[in-house]
Amino acid sequence: MQNRYEEKLNAIAAKFRKTAEAAAAEGIIPYQSAGGKWISSPYDGNSWWTGGFWPGLMWQLYTLTGDAFFQTEARRAQKLLTDEFRTFRRLNHDVGFMYLLSCGADAKLTGNEQAETDTLHAASLLMGRFNPAGFIRAWNEPERTGFAIIDCMMNLTLLYRASRDTGDPRFRQVAEIHADTTRREFLRPDGSVSHIIEFDPESGKRVREHPGQGYALGTQWSRGQAWGLYGFALAFRHLQKPAYLEAAGKIARNFAAHIREDGLTDCDFCQPKEEKRIDNIAGAVAACGFQELAKLTGEAEWKNCAERLVNAMLEHCADLGGDRCGILTHCTASYHDDGAGQHTNITYGDYFLVEALMKLCGKDPELWS
Ligand code: GLY
Repeated sequence: MQNRYEEKLNAIAAKFRKTAEAAAAEGIIPYQSAGGKWISSPYDGNSWWTGGFWPGLMWQLYTLTGDAFFQTEARRAQKLLTDEFRTFRRLNHDVGFMYLLSCGADAKLTGNEQAETDTLHAASLLMGRFNPAGFIRAWNEPERTGFAIIDCMMNLTLLYRASRDTGDPRFRQVAEIHADTTRREFLRPDGSVSHIIEFDPESGKRVREHPGQGYALGTQWSRGQAWGLYGFALAFRHLQKPAYLEAAGKIARNFAAHIREDGLTDCDFCQPKEEKRIDNIAGAVAACGFQELAKLTGEAEWKNCAERLVNAMLEHCADLGGDRCGILTHCTASYHDDGAGQHTNITYGDYFLVEALMKLCGKDPELWS
């Protein structure tokens, strides 16, 4: 008998089976949906960091249903992403998100050789961003040579995988140096994490923290907390260093203490009390991170946190009908609007909600491995 999560997943797959055809017809990689339409990224076209979530979602749904439509749609988007290797200069540390969930998933699930080659190509680009002063450079602007970001903990998975697939330890070594720097410099005593830290690109010394997509400098942007939680759990899984598991546990405790009474996730845990700004993407990422942690530690508490988050999103914020193309509502890209809007549907929210549901049903294809 299907459990309620399987029922939801099947309903989600049925919706995307219809609405993904519109994305294919338009030839775009969906970034968000509004007014009954898919919208592509308003920023750097197909080089924008979110491009891998659509094919990742298609691979999740292919795993669930076996429907070849989802495989074809994933590969259509992948082709657009690998074309971006040519422009290269717009790519940044987020090649992990972009290529692991697209080409990496294809190689893992189907054994596609070209997809494996493209995955290793992306891993080499990520390793090329390593500054031997101790960190992976986040972005490309000349004035941000020394910037590193918590989100990169997720992208390191591409490096663990490249070392495993090639037998060359350099990828993993670089990932470990970056993870150690992140633990030392981003993790705060209360279990929260900073979003952006600037280092001196020559000496590697910390210069200052910068405000990012959260409420203000020094606050707790919830999606950054979720990247830290899931990213350190994955670092432990791949590198087996106890300090990473300890870091993930600290971040998880802080996150759990801030889950709203209704089970949804504030955009920033330090936002003003009267502010009703939710970011369900943070909740969906954390629901995956909590489940990874539950698996690593055997502690049921973390699975309960994941279920609380997922149940709340399913109850209050999952649009399974309607004329919206996507599913998850109340996604907020940035606390201070960066043009993507607030409380909208954004594709990576859908991706992580589906990944969290796949994990809850024991069907997760483990794309972060
Ligand atoms: N900077 C990646 C994110 O918006 O989560």
